[in-house]
Amino acid sequence: MNICFHKTYQRAFGTFPLTGEVLTQAVRAAAKVGYRAFDTAQMYGNEGDTGVALAATGIARDDLCITTKVHPDNFSESLFLPSVEKSLKDLKVADVDVLLLHWPPIDGDIAPSLRLLQKALEAGLTRNIGVSNYTVQMMREATQIVDGPIVTNQIEFHPLLNQDKLLAVATETGIPLSSYSSVARGEVFKHAIFAEIGTGYGKSAAQIVLRWILQKGVALNTMSTNPVNIAANFEIMDFTLSSIDMARIEAMTATGFRIVGKGLVPWAPDWD
Ligand SMILES: NC(=O)c1ccc[n+]([C@@H]2O[C@H](COP(=O)([O-])OP(=O)(O)OC[C@H]3O[C@@H](n4cnc5c(N)ncnc54)[C@H](OP(=O)(O)O)[C@@H]3O)[C@@H](O)[C@H]2O)c1
Repeated sequence: MNICFHKTYQRAFGTFPLTGEVLTQAVRAAAKVGYRAFDTAQMYGNEGDTGVALAATGIARDDLCITTKVHPDNFSESLFLPSVEKSLKDLKVADVDVLLLHWPPIDGDIAPSLRLLQKALEAGLTRNIGVSNYTVQMMREATQIVDGPIVTNQIEFHPLLNQDKLLAVATETGIPLSSYSSVARGEVFKHAIFAEIGTGYGKSAAQIVLRWILQKGVALNTMSTNPVNIAANFEIMDFTLSSIDMARIEAMTATGFRIVGKGLVPWAPDWD
């Protein structure tokens, strides 16, 4: 079995925007409570620090699931594979477990970068490939272009945003979703409902939100610098939200709160 698809690896630790000692301490705390999946990107400028932090944990390479992402500026024949080789060098690994295209290209033509991604797989630079910030149409197109599985589309996913269209196409295409901004960078805590539901389970608002995401069939990326939050975000496998509570949380998606829009990053496509 590929290690990344074991249930421990459904809870990944995100590293953006951490660097240096803060990143080292956060990764150490995450590893201590059981995180084995870690998410970085060329764009974060922290692959080198992530490599140092992961090496310092002493966890065997094959017990780790390391994801990195190719910057859209490197989506060319001349830059793509060298950029991935640099990522591996910085991360101090021979390959990564999952290599993602961080954003669709600005011109919307996804085929060239997907072909380069497939080349990276064939060259043994990564064990799996995936995408991030793809729309419904892009997910459908990608399955026609890539030969073999696309193991994730990493997208903004939390209970303040309805992502039903992407969930439906995940089932249709067989491309699973994974979340980022899972607690909407703290925005979820402005809504009392999550803490209220949590009292019934002896869990915090964050744990309720993360459990809801997992029960939607979406793998998690969470980031925290606080050891208490890091542990809490991982400790979500010992309870199950009832269908009534799932539905109450689902109703919150009508809020329509989105963090990553056009103003924040130039590559953001027209979202579904
Ligand atoms: N593919 C992409 O385009 C993309 C985009 C954005 C992010 N990502 C990835 O996804 C990861 C997570 O996303 P994100 O950082 O945007 O958002 P996030 O996980 O929603 O928010 C992180 C913030 O939430 C706080 N937090 C976390 N757990 C908490 C808890 N249990 N209780 C209270 N506060 C809590 C943290 O503060 P404290 O440090 O104080 O706990 C931190 O400031 C990133 O690190 C990155 O790896 C990917």
